[in-house]
Amino acid sequence: LVQDITTLRQHIARWRREDPGGRVGFVPTMGYLHDGHLSLIRRARAECRRVVVSVFVNPLQFGPHEDFARYPRDLERDRELAAQAGADLLFHPAVETMYPRGEPGVYVDVGDLARRWEGARRPGHFRGVVTVVTKLFHLVQPDRAYFGQKDAQQAVIIRRMVADLDFSLEVVVCPTVREPDGLAMSSRNVYLDAGQRRAAPVLYRSLAAARRLLEAGERRRDRVVAAMEAVLAAEPLVEPEYAAAVAAETLEPADPVEGEVLLLVAARLGTTRLIDNFWLVVGPD
Ligand code: PAJ
Repeated sequence: LVQDITTLRQHIARWRREDPGGRVGFVPTMGYLHDGHLSLIRRARAECRRVVVSVFVNPLQFGPHEDFARYPRDLERDRELAAQAGADLLFHPAVETMYPRGEPGVYVDVGDLARRWEGARRPGHFRGVVTVVTKLFHLVQPDRAYFGQKDAQQAVIIRRMVADLDFSLEVVVCPTVREPDGLAMSSRNVYLDAGQRRAAPVLYRSLAAARRLLEAGERRRDRVVAAMEAVLAAEPLVEPEYAAAVAAETLEPADPVEGEVLLLVAARLGTTRLIDNFWLVVGPD
């Protein structure tokens, strides 16, 4: 467990000296680790000589009315789980360590990829994400960084940032890990009460309904989106925010729904926001 930047850099410099060719893998997280996070750590373990996991609840990516203060935290548990999954080092900086001068004077800016979907509902969120991920990349200087498909827009934006800003690392995007009933694992699932938890897999079912339509040959975007909306509307505890079928590279609505596409859904259960998506390669009808 390392909490300061100097010690982090010393460990990584030593690894580089001891094994100049050995890959360093990096898994950035906000902690409260679950099997989704652990799947990224295990993948990094399998592919890299050394594995760094960060646990940092980044205030910069939370809106003023979001859940920064009550975001779940359990460092001792995270430490054990990360070690079991194969992490060599857990980096857990304090907010003052990451932002010693308070709010940054300089951010990394995201263009049109942050305009829609999560970006539209969470102003400044992706700017906060890419700014902290840039700082973490500079601190760890990994060869590979692992992200989850679960946060599809985030993964697309980070891939694009690495390309556009010439970061010298590979981004690996790993499949979404789900509960047996389809609910995508998320640290925020602990906010759900029993009734909401029973209703939550409706996001997954809406995506599955759209995929079935695509498998049956449907390519019209309005039909595919309507299928997702119909499933969401049937669950009274769920307040849908958006359902979309977009091109995976641009995140712009895809019509016809063909090629590399993302089906995206977001919904509220009480005060908890959940998101989910399917990444699909859809052939011509
Ligand atoms: P966090 O929500 O903790 O997620 C950390 C990583 O785990 C992300 O790449 C996320 O996509 C992945 N992940 C979460 N749930 C998953 C699941 N069910 N299956 C597979 N992967 C999953 O995303 C963040 O933190 C932050 O924005 C961060 C990138 C750390 C920057 O602060």
